[in-house]
Amino acid sequence: MNFLFRAQAFIRFFFKSKGLHRVHSPFVFRMYEDLIRSNDRFYAFAELEKLRTRLLADQRIIERIGIGAQLKPKPLPLGEIARRTLATDHWCQIYFKLVAHFKPETILEIGTGVGLCTLYLAEAHPSARVITLEGDPAIAAVAREQFEKRKHLNIELVEGLFDVTLPDVLKKNPSPQFIVVDGNHTYAATMRYFEWLLPHVSEDTILIFDDIHWSAEMERAWKEIKQHAEVQQTIDFFRVGMVFFRKGQVKQHFILRSSFIGI
Ligand SMILES: C[S@@+](CC[C@H](N)C(=O)[O-])C[C@H]1O[C@@H](n2cnc3c(N)ncnc32)[C@H](O)[C@@H]1O
Repeated sequence: MNFLFRAQAFIRFFFKSKGLHRVHSPFVFRMYEDLIRSNDRFYAFAELEKLRTRLLADQRIIERIGIGAQLKPKPLPLGEIARRTLATDHWCQIYFKLVAHFKPETILEIGTGVGLCTLYLAEAHPSARVITLEGDPAIAAVAREQFEKRKHLNIELVEGLFDVTLPDVLKKNPSPQFIVVDGNHTYAATMRYFEWLLPHVSEDTILIFDDIHWSAEMERAWKEIKQHAEVQQTIDFFRVGMVFFRKGQVKQHFILRSSFIGI
């Protein structure tokens, strides 16, 4: 059901997505051309991808508690959990390039998983504070292990359900400039987190939602986020949606491919 839904959503996306010549915003144009579509490779990429390979091959059985929209509380090999949850190298590397370029002081990741994408964020800008939230203790332990191995002192992993941890994290860190929401993919949770984040955004914030076409619920949430009065510009990249609050710009919604095929 979900697969069929996503296949249909992708076909719609593919025919609606536009080329760069249709982008009239100088900010989006530059970001798209210089960062999203650039083929630049950084030294950290090869090492972090070796870590991905190790995580995918790890056969340790992980006992999960079962939270979020997708996970069922069945014990699974770590490699299988990594395969199901990890963002692709393509997207982790785009996040890296955005963070390396915009240099946000505080980065917030809602949904750590096994922590590989967190490492990309932390290595892109080592003097930034990276706060990452994870509710499953066994998965958080795996992520913590990766952070310790790579000696990342700029990552703070906050363990607990997002509904409990997010308000407190936002009180202590009122203006994260780079935010990735990647967990609990339901309409209600996505809208709740969006509303909680809104008082903490500024013109410089980049707010990213993963899996915006994952289900009808997520598509509904994305549609409402785009229509929100505070939101100025959005980019639908199919796999992720980016939200901007730059007031000097015309309110506009773009549908763009992050690579030739688009995902
Ligand atoms: C898709 S994974 C994150 C992947 C990670 N961002 C990456 O790219 O590797 C989502 C994570 O969010 C966690 N999660 C889902 N719902 C949650 C909730 N309500 N509270 C806390 N954690 C939750 C899950 O345990 C899972 O590890």
